[in-house]
Amino acid sequence: MFKVGIDSISSYIPKLYLDLTGKWAEVRAVEQGLDSVEKLLGKIKKGIGVEKMAIPDFHEDSATMAAMAVKKLITENDIDLNDVATITVGTETTVDQSKSMAAYVLGMLEDWAGKRYTHIGCPQVQFACIGATYGLEASLNALKADSLGKKYAIVVATDIAKYSLRSPGECTQGAGAVAMLLSKNPRLIELDPALFGTATFNERDFYRPNYSKSAVVDGKYSIDVYLECMEEALKNYMERTSESAESLYSKLDHLLFHLPFPRMAEYAAARIFSTLWPKIERFKAVAKELGLSNPANLVRSDRKGLERDLTKHPLFREEFSQKILPSLVLSRDIGNIYSGSLYLACMSLIDSSNRENVDLSNREVLFISYGSGASAKVFSGKIGKLYKEVMPGYAFSDSLRVREEDGLRTPVSMEQYELLHRGSEISVVEQKLENSFGVASLNPQIPLSSKFISVLQPKESIQKPENEFVLERVGCSESKEIVDIGYRYYKWVGEPVD
Ligand code: CAA
Repeated sequence: MFKVGIDSISSYIPKLYLDLTGKWAEVRAVEQGLDSVEKLLGKIKKGIGVEKMAIPDFHEDSATMAAMAVKKLITENDIDLNDVATITVGTETTVDQSKSMAAYVLGMLEDWAGKRYTHIGCPQVQFACIGATYGLEASLNALKADSLGKKYAIVVATDIAKYSLRSPGECTQGAGAVAMLLSKNPRLIELDPALFGTATFNERDFYRPNYSKSAVVDGKYSIDVYLECMEEALKNYMERTSESAESLYSKLDHLLFHLPFPRMAEYAAARIFSTLWPKIERFKAVAKELGLSNPANLVRSDRKGLERDLTKHPLFREEFSQKILPSLVLSRDIGNIYSGSLYLACMSLIDSSNRENVDLSNREVLFISYGSGASAKVFSGKIGKLYKEVMPGYAFSDSLRVREEDGLRTPVSMEQYELLHRGSEISVVEQKLENSFGVASLNPQIPLSSKFISVLQPKESIQKPENEFVLERVGCSESKEIVDIGYRYYKWVGEPVD
């Protein structure tokens, strides 16, 4: 019987970034009335674990990033889109309330390739940061059932993590896309689609109302919901696999988490270890010493306190360094990319291990996916013997250097960052419409009766686009000849395909 899983993986990260350890920290430290910038730097670097955040340019959005990641995936692996059955997009920062972003992505690829691929199915899956994982599970099941009708399925996770300026979430922004090629007998990671542990809680921890470009988040509570939902999904996974804590833990080489910020992995590891360790001979004494023999009986705040103590224990530090630390490196330099962040952690594990000359063949990995609102999935995979054909070195982390050091990135100034944050698009057209779109009613300055709507156009890029997909313009016609108000037009800027 054939195996299924991820054959190859590629990522696109915007080239612009904000250095959180520079001017941003100086300005925010003053605004927060701190007596020294070192306090904020300590919190950002140690407490949150991040140093840089990727920022999309004015011509970029979640759809262009997804198209860039898929283009990279198919060119690097010499994939003919005629062999691809589906392109599934997982995103929580969609560009349209109706149309699937995957159709926009396909259109961009067709524009670049100069061919049409009408046979490709293009769904979009939305559930905060876990949408791509739901898409992965469905696509793997179709592959396993041999019902795709083609060799490959592609799943792409793409998002722009955006919170209000000066909010606690500001330092946990980021942007990027990760595309995965799914196939039979995969080179990178084998996965079992029949054994995904799942949990869903109907929660208000984090959401983005239709009228808002920034997420609304109850920060500390969102961490509690993450931990509790993840624990429930782990329980469901262990029931479905009939694994005991002892057998699961003994075969696990690495744990990969959804990473809103790198430090979250420490909280999550403490929750997983405190769940499993009291039932494992080697760790029972430590769990008892720390008061964690029966963690499920503790109230939320007590348990969190004891788990913080656990993170300081030498045994925790040792297990954490081996099983988790290498997967956090990229997130530190990119920030939160929402739906792609778990898969970026996977790329980080491989990239960092290659840098250290560590062989990952046949290693067992536990994936822990989480989306606010809230749902978690836990599933396991085995790294393939041929994974180095797909990711041979550490070119990805090298590409995160600045251009002057042979990387791809350019830092933005504080002014550019705030300008980009205010809107990757600006309103240059205001039209009086015959029908009401309801947008005006959100702005008390504009009475609903005047029926005005802003059509937002991309501003001039900070860095001139080169060999990339761009958002060219947004339609603003509502005439007898054409209705395209709000429709997004993308194009390929660069060399045509060979
Ligand atoms: N040196 C070292 N550590 C320091 C420090 C210093 N100088 N100053 C503070 N710290 C530590 C704090 O002690 C704290 O660590 P502990 O939890 O161990 O106590 C840590 O830095 C963070 O400090 P605060 O608790 O004061 O941080 P905050 O109030 O600014 O909020 C946050 C942090 C809640 C993560 C906020 O950034 C936020 O709301 N982010 C967005 C929401 C989010 O990412 N939630 C995660 C779960 S939801 C999810 O995963 C989905 C998703 O993708 C969003």
